[in-house]
Amino acid sequence: MLATLFYEPSTRTRLSFETGMIRLGGNAVGFAGTGQSSVSKGESIADTVRTVAAYADVIAIRHPKEGAALVAARAAERAGVPVINAGDGGHMHPTQTLADLATIRQRCGRLTDLTVGLCGDLMFGRTVHSLIETLCRWGNIHFVLVSPPELRVPQYVLDRIDKASGCSYEQVRDLAGVIGSLDVLYMTRVQKERFFSEDEYVRLRDTYVLDRARLAAARPDMAVLHPLPRVNEIATDVDADPRAAYFDQVANGMLVRMALMAAVLDDPLPGYGDEKRQTP
Ligand code: CP
Repeated sequence: MLATLFYEPSTRTRLSFETGMIRLGGNAVGFAGTGQSSVSKGESIADTVRTVAAYADVIAIRHPKEGAALVAARAAERAGVPVINAGDGGHMHPTQTLADLATIRQRCGRLTDLTVGLCGDLMFGRTVHSLIETLCRWGNIHFVLVSPPELRVPQYVLDRIDKASGCSYEQVRDLAGVIGSLDVLYMTRVQKERFFSEDEYVRLRDTYVLDRARLAAARPDMAVLHPLPRVNEIATDVDADPRAAYFDQVANGMLVRMALMAAVLDDPLPGYGDEKRQTP
């Protein structure tokens, strides 16, 4: 039994967790938005999770506050119920990273020796933070961080770029000047919900728009990723281009979450032996 505790909106993450668990032969319960749960009466994350841990075998939580998943994991520890971070504020989104890694490996054939461009809201974009940290485990990644100065990658994430494993980065403002050098271009949405000022959001939201004209300067084998949802940052005329990989990410998202849930529950995936479960 999976419980999905989504304090923040979601389409892909929640539905892929839930459909993934049902495909594994389990069931799913939970809430999407806090209005119908006792969260609206002021119940804490810890008490909510302690309660749900009495009903469920695994919990996936999304919350607008950074660190909420860690609080939840500690609350569920005594019951022995694993908690999966489905996105905590502007901090991390590790299961999106699993989908991203699977897609990069499908498209590029490897997770090392890559030039990876990350473009857009790199400050609040939690998928970017998780992906940078995780790709460094494979090594020899050059990150090209494309953003306006106001939306640069936070220092704590830059500090995790492991130069000892051959990783490096540059920060630029202009996408056109670097697109031709990239193996992967990871576009991101400007995260309206994390801005303190509507005016500032409106000023920055359309800084980068990838359309067919701009894509013409990219290599023919570059992969275009985006965690979705998109607003304007990838024009729909890019969708038919063979380099567009963002709906592959969606499909991979369900598969990697199935694998993750099977792993944390120590439940063998149907048709897969233990040796195959070692492969991400
Ligand atoms: N990529 C992602 O997290 O999408 P949702 O917000 O729809 O879950």
